Amino acid sequence: MRISVIGAGYVGLVTGACLAKLANKVTLIDIDTHKIKSINSKASPLYEEGLDELLNQVNVEVSPDYTRTTDSEVLFICVGTPPDKDGPISLEQITEATKEISKVLKKKKDYCVVAVKSTVAPGTTEELVIPILEKSGKRTGKDFGVCFSPEFLREGKAVYDFMNPARIIIGEYDKRSGDTLLKLYRNFNAPVLRTNLRTAEMIKLASNAFLAAKISFINEIGNICKNLGIDVYEVAKGMGYDDRIGNKFLNAGIGFGGSCLPKDIQGLISKSRQIGYEPKILQEVLNLNDRQALKVIDLLKKHISLKGTTIGVLGLAFKPGTDDIRDSSALRVVQALLKEGAKVKAYDPMAVNNFKKLFPQIEYVARAEALNSDAILILTEWPEFNELDYSGKIVVDGRRVEKAREAKIYEGICW
Ligand SMILES: NC(=O)c1ccc[n+]([C@@H]2O[C@H](COP(=O)([O-])OP(=O)(O)OC[C@H]3O[C@@H](n4cnc5c(N)ncnc54)[C@H](O)[C@@H]3O)[C@@H](O)[C@H]2O)c1
Repeated sequence: MRISVIGAGYVGLVTGACLAKLANKVTLIDIDTHKIKSINSKASPLYEEGLDELLNQVNVEVSPDYTRTTDSEVLFICVGTPPDKDGPISLEQITEATKEISKVLKKKKDYCVVAVKSTVAPGTTEELVIPILEKSGKRTGKDFGVCFSPEFLREGKAVYDFMNPARIIIGEYDKRSGDTLLKLYRNFNAPVLRTNLRTAEMIKLASNAFLAAKISFINEIGNICKNLGIDVYEVAKGMGYDDRIGNKFLNAGIGFGGSCLPKDIQGLISKSRQIGYEPKILQEVLNLNDRQALKVIDLLKKHISLKGTTIGVLGLAFKPGTDDIRDSSALRVVQALLKEGAKVKAYDPMAVNNFKKLFPQIEYVARAEALNSDAILILTEWPEFNELDYSGKIVVDGRRVEKAREAKIYEGICW
């Protein structure tokens, strides 16, 4: 099929490259000149396992020119929906992209489907996207179709997840919209749920809110366990055998970050408040997560005074396998260390360049072994951190790196 993908970030670039690999003709649109240059020279502007190789196998070009989307049968909207400060999901990028698509629709002769993949609050596709598209003078359901098809890929495993989805959710304006989109997924071996637009939007937000709640839940149990001398990892293992609970997302630690969980749960809270319902569980999931990251500072202060002391930080990305630092716990922890007057030396195998843009004042080392410091905080569970020599060190571990237990003084965040 002829596909356009608007927004060549984590989701859009992976979607575009994977759909091209599946023999579709893909046009990518983005407005970021740095990204455009990088992708067109076959280098992914972001670190994602297998993406560089994929870009070299397929024929995808990116440009800011929306007229290149005129012959597309499906146009995916994959632009960012970042958080508005502690509030609803920002709809600025989606509004701008939809306005451009509307101009294209005006000139289009054939039926096409506009499929929103960006995560938005329930009602957004009907109340914002469709009215802008109809400014083209064309009618939804007659001249074009609309779907909301959420993306569930995990950063770090995005290419694998796109090609091997656990489920395909299609929120459809009408049957024809859903039928058209489904043609793209005909060779995927995954359950398909077809539903209406706002239900699909809610499925995405509720899924992320549930995952976040699972993490905050086990962190709370971990905080209790630490004080009772119980190993929360044993507890989680015992719980996980129950398939109503499952053993995933039960790794107690420093909490969740990234571009999705915190802002999606905040977006759901905002939507809920708009309709007059106070979502107490969801709010406490976020509150606990905010407190959890800073616990490593309190634990460190039990062993060393921070003023003027050099603290080594292992891990800056919000999780291993990515260079993404959006809402990473490391941001809050480094900020707090600097506030306490500590000197910070940091190492991450992938995320240093991104972190440097926000914290140019700290020192970065090129190898974890070069992190000579008075104490070490482990903030991301990169596998290589389990190979380091921690003997003689003070270590506060936010991620359960077993090897770090050999440290002179070892404190797990909740074990
Ligand atoms: N990152 C994830 O793991 C993930 C997973 C599932 C869903 N999502 C959702 O997918 C959406 C995209 O996330 P992302 O992480 O890929 O974001 P991103 O910020 O990495 O990428 C967004 C891209 O859109 C481009 N853009 C902005 N305005 C544009 C416009 N008017 N026209 C064309 N391009 C424009 C930006 O330059 C950027 O390259 C978000 O709604 C996010 O919540 C993300």
